[in-house]
Amino acid sequence: MTDHILSEVEGGVLTLTINRPDKKNALTRAMYQGLGDGIDRASEDPSIRCVLIQANGDIFTAGNDLGDFAAVNAGDPQANNAREGGNPLLAALARAKTPIVAAVHGRAVGVGVTMLLHCDLVYVAEDALLTTPFVNLALVPEAASSMLLPQRIGHARAFSMFVLNEAVDGKTAAAWGIANAAVPAAELRAKARAAAEAVAARAPTAVKATKGLMRSPAAISAKMEEGKIFAAQLRSAETKEALAAFAEKRAPDFSKVGA
Ligand code: COA
Repeated sequence: MTDHILSEVEGGVLTLTINRPDKKNALTRAMYQGLGDGIDRASEDPSIRCVLIQANGDIFTAGNDLGDFAAVNAGDPQANNAREGGNPLLAALARAKTPIVAAVHGRAVGVGVTMLLHCDLVYVAEDALLTTPFVNLALVPEAASSMLLPQRIGHARAFSMFVLNEAVDGKTAAAWGIANAAVPAAELRAKARAAAEAVAARAPTAVKATKGLMRSPAAISAKMEEGKIFAAQLRSAETKEALAAFAEKRAPDFSKVGA
């Protein structure tokens, strides 16, 4: 268990709060595990009727911890082993039975956006900014997002987000259907909490069945095979250059790497 994920149950709602503000809530392996364990616990505990994911600090999350990415890229055996068996949060999202509500403020980067595609209700702050800089890091989309994002917003917008790192603000995220609503940042937590409580108050079997009917876990799991391409790219010379450029605060030069 990590204290970077806070967990609290009240009124049938399990609230998971991402809590690593000094590192912009960048997600480590332990944090993925903490979030994934919470989602699995909700599926097994009938007293938990809804999961609410939110974050402390000034942003929702800066995505995967870049130090962890760099360690895998450098061939660190411990980091490599940690990535074996896939990402525990993504696996838990794929098999989740309990509805999940997300409250997104500030920046949501990478997996901070792709996880939203597995949530059932998403509320964003009007001034939130969603980005998926996978290709900037010479990586590919994960979490079945190469299927789920184009389904949700269309190929052209999804390609622009993935490949050109187009930033999507809160109002646009709501207009495009990534989020249910964009609200003033000060009202975000209350709005998401009220929605989670409304879900928790409804007939639990009907709610879970409805979520199940609306999802295709087999298709999602099959698409998560994208993780193999992600893992290969993570160890590539292209990603080495991208991570070095980020660390050195310069533009990457891909002219000498790749095909
Ligand atoms: N992994 C690890 N550490 C991260 C991080 C990440 N993804 N994102 C931010 N941090 C750390 C910074 O290294 C810095 O640590 P330090 O204080 O020890 O130097 C601290 O968090 C603050 O980050 P900083 O970049 O100064 O904050 P900012 O407000 O200027 O910018 C972001 C915020 C999110 C725009 C910027 O940090 C960023 O672009 N992060 C990387 C996002 C990314 O590419 N994620 C992977 C997606 S696949």
